[in-house]
Amino acid sequence: MERALYGPDGFYVRHRPGRHFRTSSQSVTFASAIARLVARVDAALGAPSTVDVVDVGAGEGTLLRNLVAALPDGLRERVRPHAVELDDPVIPDGIVGVLLAMEWLDNVPLDLSCDGVYLNDGAPLSTQDAAWIDRWWPAPAPGQIVEIGRTRDEAWAAAVAKLSAGLALAVDYGHLSGTRPAHTTLAAFRDGREVGVVFDGSADVTCHVSMDSAGEAGGTPYRIERQREALKGLGVDGGRPPLDLARSDPSGYVRALAACSEAGTLLDPDGLGGHWWLTHEVGIRLSE
Ligand SMILES: C[S@@+](CC[C@H](N)C(=O)[O-])C[C@H]1O[C@@H](n2cnc3c(N)ncnc32)[C@H](O)[C@@H]1O
Repeated sequence: MERALYGPDGFYVRHRPGRHFRTSSQSVTFASAIARLVARVDAALGAPSTVDVVDVGAGEGTLLRNLVAALPDGLRERVRPHAVELDDPVIPDGIVGVLLAMEWLDNVPLDLSCDGVYLNDGAPLSTQDAAWIDRWWPAPAPGQIVEIGRTRDEAWAAAVAKLSAGLALAVDYGHLSGTRPAHTTLAAFRDGREVGVVFDGSADVTCHVSMDSAGEAGGTPYRIERQREALKGLGVDGGRPPLDLARSDPSGYVRALAACSEAGTLLDPDGLGGHWWLTHEVGIRLSE
């Protein structure tokens, strides 16, 4: 998985992710909601002179660009956006503001195991991986594939440790203890479609994220909720615009209708709305 994604011929070395799949980050409605979240964090921090917004695995930077544009005057000038990507994968120290990781963790390579050995080479499990399985995916059925989330936990813990004060938010598809998948979620995508899993760098290879183990690794307290609920809490509702608007402002009505359909996609419980939001508040308390 490491070689397929990040090796010399790896998928992310050769391809622009935005061309291959649709994520929440590409939506203007989503960016506006994250801008409102940044404003809440700013208020909780007491409106400091600079507010960092660091996006780890930022892709082409679409979310950062759209969210800066959506910030209110007075905050926009104080925000320092920072995209972390493979060409310079160092997350800055001492972040005061918001740390974002949108569909990053599902691309952090992981090992699979089956019946107590690694699936790829049959070697016995390391002590750390065996301990991770005991804690987070206990007693797998014979023949069941376990997706060992330890590497994601460590990546997330290291990222959250860079936050001095503010909010860390990871958004991803994943699962929690008690509802681990019976079959592997390892999947590959190319040109917007799911394809057979190949490790030759021609497709994005991804695997769902164990969100609760990542939460515990990132430090307590943490909160996990569905994107649908989180976005509703930030004012994304997906309600249709009033029909009267079609008569008084036809083009405004069409714009509102488009926004409503975008919100519907973000809130869809069987799609992006079913993704998980994992948050850690560091040195702040956000009001409910
Ligand atoms: C699925 S894409 C998500 C892109 C974007 N956040 C979005 O939601 O559309 C995952 C991104 O993480 C980046 N990535 C993977 N490992 C990384 C690392 N260690 N540091 C920074 N970026 C990384 C990849 O290059 C890729 O652009």
